[in-house]
Amino acid sequence: MKIVARRIGDEIADLSFRHKYPELQTLDPWVDSNIGKSALYSILDEHNTYIGVAMIYNIKFGVEAELGVSINNKPYWGKGYGTAALKFLIETCRVSKIPRVYTKVAKGNDRALAHEHKAGMKQYGESVINGVSFILLEQNLVI
Ligand SMILES: CC(C)(COP(=O)(O)OP(=O)(O)OC[C@H]1O[C@@H](n2cnc3c(N)ncnc32)[C@H](O)[C@@H]1OP(=O)(O)O)[C@@H](O)C(=O)NCCC(=O)NCCS
Repeated sequence: MKIVARRIGDEIADLSFRHKYPELQTLDPWVDSNIGKSALYSILDEHNTYIGVAMIYNIKFGVEAELGVSINNKPYWGKGYGTAALKFLIETCRVSKIPRVYTKVAKGNDRALAHEHKAGMKQYGESVINGVSFILLEQNLVI
């Protein structure tokens, strides 16, 4: 599996090679007017087929950032890609000195909740947004 920065010309952040290329561990965010300072990645399978998106957004360096993963290609659900991508985002925040990451999952989306827990995210509250109930999750990182 590969995680690739979405912008043309960005470095490839390949999970399996990150330990060999420390420079890939530098977060390279950019400003997006809708979602704040953010870093957006494509998730590819072993054959470079696009299967989803992973995103760090609302980045506040030294404070916190919000995470999101979506496997858009349904046949790839439940094969571990979502958890691996989420762990990649968390590790990227950790090495970028972002001490807290957070996200939300719609109540009843048990697959999504399971993958959050597998990546170490812990529930800290609940919220209703536009009539939809969400479970709020966070993780404090040792940086
Ligand atoms: C949510 C999502 C990102 C998870 O990624 P994924 O690659 O499917 O998840 P993983 O395979 O890494 O892990 C899913 C886990 O949920 C478990 N699971 C699957 N269906 C489940 C269910 N109905 N109830 C509880 N657990 C379930 C799986 O068994 C797996 O755990 P395991 O590996 O210990 O067996 C992906 O399924 C997705 O994008 N779905 C559609 C969009 C969506 O729901 N987005 C919400 C993001 S917050």
